[in-house]
Amino acid sequence: MNWSSTSMRFKRCFCTLMVVFSLSCVIGLFADPKMEKTINDLLGKMTLEEKIGQMTLYTSGWATTGAKMDDNYMDYIKTGKCGAIFNALTAEYTKKLQKVAVESSRLKIPLIFGYDVIHGHRTIMPIPLAEACSWDMAAIEKSCRIAAIEASAEGINWTFAPMVDIARDPRWGRVAEGSGEDTYLGCLIAKARVKGFQGDDLSKPDTIIACAKHYAAYGGAQGGRDYNSVDVSERTLFETYLPPFKACVEAGVGSFMTAFNDLSGVPCTANKFLLTKVLHDLWGFNGFVVTDYTSINELVPHGIAANEEEAGKLSVLAGVDMDMEGGVYMKYLAKQVKDGIVPMNRIDEAVKRILIAKWKLGLFEDPYRYCDENRQREMVLNPKHLAFSLEMAKKSMVLLQNEKNILPLRKDIKKIAVIGPLASSTEDLLGSWHAAGDGKKPVSVLDSIKEIVNPGVEVLYAQGCDITESSHSGFQKAIETAKEADVIILTIGERESMSGEASSRSDIDLPGVQNDLVEAIATVKKPTVAVLFNGRPLTITKLTKKVDAILEAWFPGTMGGKAVAEVVFGDYNPSGKLTISFPRSVGQIPIYYNMKNTGRPIDPKNKYTSKYIDIPNTPLYPFGWGLSYTTFKYSGLTLSSKTIGEKDVLKISVDVKNEGKMGGEETVQLYVRNIAGSVTRPVKELKGYKKVQLNPSETKKVEFELNSNDLAFYRFDMSWGPEAGNFEVFVGGNSQETLNGKFELKMASAQ
Ligand code: BGC
Repeated sequence: MNWSSTSMRFKRCFCTLMVVFSLSCVIGLFADPKMEKTINDLLGKMTLEEKIGQMTLYTSGWATTGAKMDDNYMDYIKTGKCGAIFNALTAEYTKKLQKVAVESSRLKIPLIFGYDVIHGHRTIMPIPLAEACSWDMAAIEKSCRIAAIEASAEGINWTFAPMVDIARDPRWGRVAEGSGEDTYLGCLIAKARVKGFQGDDLSKPDTIIACAKHYAAYGGAQGGRDYNSVDVSERTLFETYLPPFKACVEAGVGSFMTAFNDLSGVPCTANKFLLTKVLHDLWGFNGFVVTDYTSINELVPHGIAANEEEAGKLSVLAGVDMDMEGGVYMKYLAKQVKDGIVPMNRIDEAVKRILIAKWKLGLFEDPYRYCDENRQREMVLNPKHLAFSLEMAKKSMVLLQNEKNILPLRKDIKKIAVIGPLASSTEDLLGSWHAAGDGKKPVSVLDSIKEIVNPGVEVLYAQGCDITESSHSGFQKAIETAKEADVIILTIGERESMSGEASSRSDIDLPGVQNDLVEAIATVKKPTVAVLFNGRPLTITKLTKKVDAILEAWFPGTMGGKAVAEVVFGDYNPSGKLTISFPRSVGQIPIYYNMKNTGRPIDPKNKYTSKYIDIPNTPLYPFGWGLSYTTFKYSGLTLSSKTIGEKDVLKISVDVKNEGKMGGEETVQLYVRNIAGSVTRPVKELKGYKKVQLNPSETKKVEFELNSNDLAFYRFDMSWGPEAGNFEVFVGGNSQETLNGKFELKMASAQ
C-alpha cells in the first residue's frame, strides 16, 4: 500500500487510533484470567514444532462415502503437528479425530474443525446474493443461526463465512456468495451473518466461529476473472471494499481469511498493511487470520517470493496466523525461527490467538462439546429449518417483469406447460457451495407445481434443451407441448456450478441454446412466465422481449421448488429487491448505481458526453429493483428542514400507498447525493431503508432520519467526516424511480 500518497493528517488520525486500539487489543486478548493462565502455561510447555502445529490447518479427504483422514494427518494430530482440520463432518467422525488430539497428543490441545458453511449446512438456504435481496437482516441472521445449529451438531466449530466482498462485476462467479454491490447494505448483512453464526456466546454448543473473507477487495478482480489482480485506489479500498470487514470486527467476528488476489501490487496473504496495520492496529481485531487455501504457496507464482520458504516468512511476518492446506509453515517456520528470521514472539502471538479461539468455543472445557450424535439426529434437516428455508427462498425472489399482470397464475388453469432444462433438476436448486447439502433432497419445480395446482389441472413437461449443450433436438417436443397448454412456465438459467469459485464467465447471457428455446416457444404466442435460476445477474435483454413475466428465483436452496410454486401461483407476494445491477450487456460492466457523475454526464443530444453509442447507460434492472403483485405509490416527500447543522437531525418522510388488490411488502429506499465535495461523490448512495407491509388501499407514512455522520466520507485528506454543502435526497422503491428533495448541511467547524 502506498503510504506516500496519504496525507500527514490521515497518518496522524491513523496513529492515534492505532494507540487506542492496540491498548484495547492487549487488554481484550486476555479478558479472562483463567484463560490467560491456561494458555500461558501451555505456551510455556509447547515445543516450537507444537506451536507451529497450532498454526497448521489440513483438510480431511472427502471420499464419496464420507470424510477420510490421510494416515499422515492422523499422525500429525497425534504428534501435535496439526491443530485444525477442515472438511471433517459428523459428530461420530469429528469425535474420533478429537479423541486422538486430546487423548494421544502430548499436550492434549483440542482440534478446531472448520467447514464452508456458506448458505445453510444440510438444510440449504438460498445463495447469499439471493438472501441479500430480501433486505431482511433478521431473516439473514436467522438463516446463519440455523446453519450454525446444524453444522455445530455435526462437529463443526468454525465456518469459512461470511464472504463480505463487495462485487460490481457479475462476470465474477463469486458474486453469488456475497451481498452485492452496495457497501452500506454489505455492512448490515456482514453483521447479521456474524451474529447469526456466532450467537451471543461462542461457548454454547450450537454457535460457531465466523470468518470474514476474503480480505480484501477480492471482488475487484480485473475483468471479473477469478483470482485475478486487483488495483484500486486507497480511497475506493477504504470507502467501498473495507467497511464490511470492519463491520465484521465490530460484530465480534472470531477469524479472518486472506484473499487470493494481489492488491495494488501486494498479495493479500503477504500484506502487512491490511493484516496488521488496518486489521489489528486500526480496527482492534483480536481473533486469528487464516490463509485462503494455499495462498502462501501462491506468493511464488505471484512473483513476490522466490520460493515457498520465503513465501512463508512474508506471510507470517505480515500477520497470517494459520496456514490452510499449504504446509509451508510446517515445513519452514521452525528453521526460520531458529535462524532468527522470524521472531518467536510473532509465533507466540499467532498461537495465542488460535488457542483463545479454542478456549472461547469451550473446547478446553469439553472437547466433545460439538460431537453429540443425538443433537445431530435432532437438528440436521429439522422440519423447522426446512420451513425457514422455504420462507427465506420466497423472501429472496425478485419479480423482474410482470407484463399485463400475468402473475400470479390461477391454480385452475386447465393445462400448464413446464418447459426448460431446470424444471426437473434438484441439485441445481442448491447453488454453488452447497457443501453438505444433498442434491437429491429438493423437490423439483416441476413436481412442486404439480403439487400446488388444483386437482384435475394437467401439468405437461418438456425439457427442450440442456443447460449448456448445443443440441436443438428437444425443441420440437417443447413447441408441441407449449401449443397444447394455456400458459407456459419456462425454467431456465445456469447450472449450479456455473457460479461460485472459479466460475467466471465472459458471456453472462443464458448459456447453451436456451435463448433459442425461448425464441422457439415465443412463436407459440401463449402467455409465458420465465423463472430464472442463476448465481449472478444475467444479460437477459433478449428474454425480456420474448416473455411476459420474469421471476428471479436465484439458486433458492433445499425448499426452492416449493418456493417457486408458491410465488408463481400467488400464495406468496414477492418483495425481493436487487442488491446488484443487471447489465443490458457485458460491455456495460462494471455497472453499479453509486457511480460518479463524470465531468460530462450523459446528454443524449450531445455526442461528447459519457455514454455508449449503441446502448443506454442505464442497467436493464437497477439496484433496488423488484416488483410486487400489487403496486405502491409514493407521494408527499417532506424534509423537516431545508438546512441542518452538524448536530441536527433531518427528518424525511414519505407516504406510501398500496394501490393494488393484494396485500404486499415494500422496501422503501433512501438515497443521498453530495452535490459538491472536496472529492467527487457518487450520484446516489443508499443511506437507509424501511420495509412496510401494506393492505390494499392502505397508506403509511415512512420516516427516516439523517444526521451529519450519515453524510461522512473520506475527504480530500483521507480524514473521515462530513463536509458542509448541498445535498439531494431520493426516496423510492428502487434506485432509479424516486421522489427528490434538497437540503443543506452547515458546519460550524472549519474543515
Ligand atoms: C475458497 C474459500 C474457501 C476455501 C476452503 C478456497 O478455495 O476461496 O472461500 O473457504 O477454499 O474450502
